[in-house]
Amino acid sequence: MPTTKRDTILSAVTGAVADRLSQRKTLSPVPESVRIDGKTCLVTGANSGLGKAVAVDLARRGGRVLMACRGGHPDAAEEVKRLSGSDAVAMLKVDLADLGSVQALCDRLESDVERLDIVVLNAGVMPRTGRRSAQGYELMFAVHFLANRLLINRLLSDGTIRPDSRSGRVPRIVLVASEAHRSAGPIDFDHFGAFTDYGLRDGLKHYGMSKLHLCTYAQELSRRLNPGGEVRVAVTSLCPGAVNSNLAREAPVLLKPLLHPIMRLFFAAPEKAAAPVTYACCADGLERRSGVYLHLMQEKGPSALAMDEGAGARLWDESAALLARHVKGGEADGSGPMPHQRTGDA
Ligand SMILES: NC(=O)c1ccc[n+]([C@@H]2O[C@H](COP(=O)([O-])OP(=O)(O)OC[C@H]3O[C@@H](n4cnc5c(N)ncnc54)[C@H](OP(=O)(O)O)[C@@H]3O)[C@@H](O)[C@H]2O)c1
Repeated sequence: MPTTKRDTILSAVTGAVADRLSQRKTLSPVPESVRIDGKTCLVTGANSGLGKAVAVDLARRGGRVLMACRGGHPDAAEEVKRLSGSDAVAMLKVDLADLGSVQALCDRLESDVERLDIVVLNAGVMPRTGRRSAQGYELMFAVHFLANRLLINRLLSDGTIRPDSRSGRVPRIVLVASEAHRSAGPIDFDHFGAFTDYGLRDGLKHYGMSKLHLCTYAQELSRRLNPGGEVRVAVTSLCPGAVNSNLAREAPVLLKPLLHPIMRLFFAAPEKAAAPVTYACCADGLERRSGVYLHLMQEKGPSALAMDEGAGARLWDESAALLARHVKGGEADGSGPMPHQRTGDA
């Protein structure tokens, strides 16, 4: 993978600072008075940073919030309850680096949850060096893309995410990507899913590539779910801008004394950075649009590579083939664009 100007640590930090300083809001934040009572929301990676802030915000607005997190965070749900003043918060365990764990989460959601109205695919990771997921894939490819591909496919085919034309309920799927997707070259379908080792220097390149997979998937998902322009499921992808979170936890020890003050000073607090996510989840009118990409509070297109319909279709097929190796029963073949309909829905 060739290096571009946006995929070194220094350029990523300066780019993030520049984004923050030049931030011009064109969309109005969703007022606190906007409620989502009666809606059930799933947020991945909700124990930390942006995901936790989103969980608090959705719970405060009256949503029932399911926090899908790795083990080891027993206090996080209690904290979200305390900060939001809502008891309608529950913790579900999932390791997105393990497709078996994603399947187990879907099984649980299928049996315990009537429907999901809002799904926020937020979990993210930035490993210091190349690392493998449980099934042997590069970790960011697995967590940012493959797990989400399986999760959404299962939720749609199980009917846990489903449109309801009688009530006009349009589910919303929100994918937290990154402007780093613009630094990636075309997806290498000849080596799709192949693990390549990398060191500290190349971590951001792989991060950008994994987010390009996610952005390309978001566009393809939106096209498949909403043929002919009628929005049945609203798919939004976004970059929250630079967030003062735990994402850089694996940064080199020598860099941390420099990085942490920069993050504190120039990166947005998760509660502020959550504004575009809240917008995607709650803004009035967005349920009638799909394929929208937000950068901070601005709407713009994702990269041309992410919009490429040929790449989107190939990504869909190649990832279905990968998942079929690991998922029994063909649930993950992803061929059916329309959600399964549970009894009682149009
Ligand atoms: N921070 C930024 O400047 C920035 C900029 C653009 C986009 N983003 C995106 O924003 C999203 C949220 O990141 P953040 O900045 O809030 O970072 P964060 O504080 O590190 O939060 C990341 C969350 O993802 C979870 N996660 C990681 N690997 C997982 C796995 N295998 N299974 C389940 N959960 C997993 C983490 O859980 P653990 O705590 O258990 O590890 C954590 O809850 C990410 O998608 C990131 O790429 C961030």
